[in-house]
Amino acid sequence: MILIASDHAGFALKHHVIKFLTGLGHEVRDLGVDSERSVDYPDFAHRLALAVSAGEAERGILICGTGLGMSMAANRHPGIRAALCHDAYTAEMARRHNDANVLCMGGRTTGPAVAEQMTAIFLATPFEGGRHQRRVGKIEPGRNGEES
Ligand code: RB5
Repeated sequence: MILIASDHAGFALKHHVIKFLTGLGHEVRDLGVDSERSVDYPDFAHRLALAVSAGEAERGILICGTGLGMSMAANRHPGIRAALCHDAYTAEMARRHNDANVLCMGGRTTGPAVAEQMTAIFLATPFEGGRHQRRVGKIEPGRNGEES
């Protein structure tokens, strides 16, 4: 199960990504927006981040005009590691090194072919763990990342 949400500026690309994912056999839940009417991206970022934090899905995808606002808002939630990616390399590293659980992209900055490529990589790439686990542990405020 993959959760996805966008604002108006990410609406068209979101629908492209949903079609791509369902074509691959994934179950996708769209948390809005449901048209190109102007909305506020944090409303949708928070909705998706809360659902991922609550364990409703392991991974989510957020799309606004640039991906910037969505990633900023989603990253305010404990346990959310939202990565704004622009190409195959950043999507791969977001998983391998950062254990990102939310992929953010920009409907005004990323074309459909690159969005498909990043989505496929984001879903297929494992976290490397090891030294990266220690570093990821230090991301959450108030945690020093020391192993107990
Ligand atoms: C909407 O115009 C735009 O500001 C929004 O989609 C996003 O890019 C914000 O980060």
